[in-house]
Amino acid sequence: MGKTYKIAVIGGDGTGPEVVAEGLKVLQAAQSKYGFKIETQAFDFGGARYLRTGETLPDSAIEELKKFDAIFLGAIGHPDVKPGILEKGILLKARFALDQYINLRPVKLYPGVETPLKGKGPEDIDFVVIRENSQDIYTGMGGIMHEGTPQEVATQTSVYTRFGVDRALKYAFDYTRKRHAKSAWKGLTDADRKAGQIGQLTLCGKTNVLTYVYGLWERAFHEMGAQYGDIKRAYTHVDATTMWFVKNPEWFDVIVTGNLFGDIITDLGAMIQGGMGVAAGGNINPDKGGVSMFEPIGGSAPKYTGQNVINPIAAICAGGMMLDTLGETAAAEAIENAVKDVIATKLKSLAAGRMGYGTREVGDLVAERV
Ligand code: IPM
Ligand code: MN
Repeated sequence: MGKTYKIAVIGGDGTGPEVVAEGLKVLQAAQSKYGFKIETQAFDFGGARYLRTGETLPDSAIEELKKFDAIFLGAIGHPDVKPGILEKGILLKARFALDQYINLRPVKLYPGVETPLKGKGPEDIDFVVIRENSQDIYTGMGGIMHEGTPQEVATQTSVYTRFGVDRALKYAFDYTRKRHAKSAWKGLTDADRKAGQIGQLTLCGKTNVLTYVYGLWERAFHEMGAQYGDIKRAYTHVDATTMWFVKNPEWFDVIVTGNLFGDIITDLGAMIQGGMGVAAGGNINPDKGGVSMFEPIGGSAPKYTGQNVINPIAAICAGGMMLDTLGETAAAEAIENAVKDVIATKLKSLAAGRMGYGTREVGDLVAERV
């Protein structure tokens, strides 16, 4: 018998618990076959608990979560709670307190999935966004005064430290290297290959306006990149990046960017890969002993709650990403292949209520194939 992984499960709000249940079903199917064991413990953090107790994610919960190997999160967001409270109190609190400084978001179009991009297919849409997840405008530095008066002033500052940028860049360069350990990225030219390059890392910034913070990113990117001769370096401004995502997504291999730009471009990424039903993300603390958190990136979809109509594929993929990060790469690959097969041969659509199967049935179909 292999390792036992302790997983904290936060189903959260709306359809979160339903999709997480299917993710767990698939993990359970994988464990006996691939010789590991998962032990789960459920936590009820989310909107309902907040409305009952006023508590979001208390410090004691952070200490508790540190004892787990990973966290599996459904969705946070409740129609009766003012925007910002649960997002900051639960999601961002976990990211910051557990120092999950990487947000890993693959953008991959699986065969059989419809993309809104005309003339583009799975061979064109296959890249990964590495979003810095601990700094930027998300740190909450700034403030407001004279609120509600004509003199009102509000500031919210983008903060980057060299340390924070360097650790995100290191993860990104290493990730790109690992991604192409077996086969080089197909977008490279013959000259790149001759020079020994295997993959491309694109820095997405805004060096024409945000000269301080993205100036720091750019210098750090090229300084570190000099030690990664096997990785081709590229740069795009964030506004142009959104244009290329639509026009030439095949130009991207791995992208590294700041927290806010990463937030924005990954929603666009999710759309071109077929929607929120397939988009998964990992909040990763790659350091030794770090606890990472995996989630489908779509919201809590309250109107579909309890109807067995929501698509659980994104949550299943988040579970696969969790196994991959824990080192169970064969099981993660099996989950991805099972997902691809179910999408290509069974599902009518990825949209809620139009899959041709219910939430639980889709979970069964993937679990059977694993
Ligand atoms: C995401 C979400 C969060 C973010 C929100 C809910 C705080 O949009 O994970 O992308 O902005 O990071
Ligand atoms: Mn977002």
